[in-house]
Amino acid sequence: MNTVAPEMVADSADGSSAEAESGIKKIGDVILDIQNISLRFGGVKALTDISFNVREHEIRAIIGPNGAGKSSMLNCINGVYVPSEGSITFRGQTFSHMNSRQVAEMGVARTFQNLALFKGMSVLDNIMSGRNLKIKSNLLLQALRIGPAEREEIRHREFVERIIDFLEIQAHRKTPVGQLPYGLQKRVDLGRALAMEPQVLLLDEPMAGMNVEEKQDMSRFILDVNDEFGTTIVLIEHDMGVVMDISDRVVVLDYGKKIGDGTPHEVRNNEDVIRAYLGTEH
Ligand SMILES: Nc1ncnc2c1ncn2[C@@H]1O[C@H](COP(=O)(O)OP(=O)(O)O)[C@@H](O)[C@H]1O
Ligand SMILES: [Mg+2]
Repeated sequence: MNTVAPEMVADSADGSSAEAESGIKKIGDVILDIQNISLRFGGVKALTDISFNVREHEIRAIIGPNGAGKSSMLNCINGVYVPSEGSITFRGQTFSHMNSRQVAEMGVARTFQNLALFKGMSVLDNIMSGRNLKIKSNLLLQALRIGPAEREEIRHREFVERIIDFLEIQAHRKTPVGQLPYGLQKRVDLGRALAMEPQVLLLDEPMAGMNVEEKQDMSRFILDVNDEFGTTIVLIEHDMGVVMDISDRVVVLDYGKKIGDGTPHEVRNNEDVIRAYLGTEH
């Protein structure tokens, strides 16, 4: 269900926030601005002159055929790849490239197309691992579990338990992640990212390989995260039904170029997009 009125996400020249009205989601100012990003791997141009922005509290989808450059774009945003040209502005600060740790500290978390979980570790410990950046007390105190370190550990554990409740995986908290069905592993990966308390969440195909029911569950969790915590979400997804249902605006990439950008309705009716993507199976 899309609760945002199209005019509320239209680019406003003065950058003013749209006012929240009852029942209508509030979309804020631009939080992330991608400007003229190009990325090369030897002879391959993975991205060519890509510009788009992401507004606070919106769900922004990136779609396009395989090899279009979607994952590469997320990798530029979270500092895994260094773009050959262009810049990225996050909360008004402009960078020619991002640094992974800095990006995480600025409140950007991500999940991966291919899961990056510790398969032999429990659900609880995997989600706790997302909390590492937040753990401040010194390692000796932590090892001895005394004083502030113990209190801090308790606080982190409580936070992780809240995420486990939120994602409805209480029954699996002690289960090694590798023993869970794929759909639940993806949910744990989301939990690990949520443990960072991100302001911006980058999701790379969170529903890939899922059955219909698992996709519905994941869609609901993404909408709930966006609704309840106000988290801004950048989402790569192949299932067009899901994209049309849950995203506020959509960027379309094809062969590393941007060929469409707008509301789901606008993108669905864009001739270039229909030709490149919607009409063909990938
Ligand atoms: N680390 C890499 N080294 C070399 N080529 C890469 C690398 N990552 C991506 N590419 C290439 O960049 C292009 C875009 O890939 P990718 O971003 O993974 O696309 P998508 O996520 O849209 O399927 C592809 O041609 C891919 O082969
Ligand atoms: Mg990809």
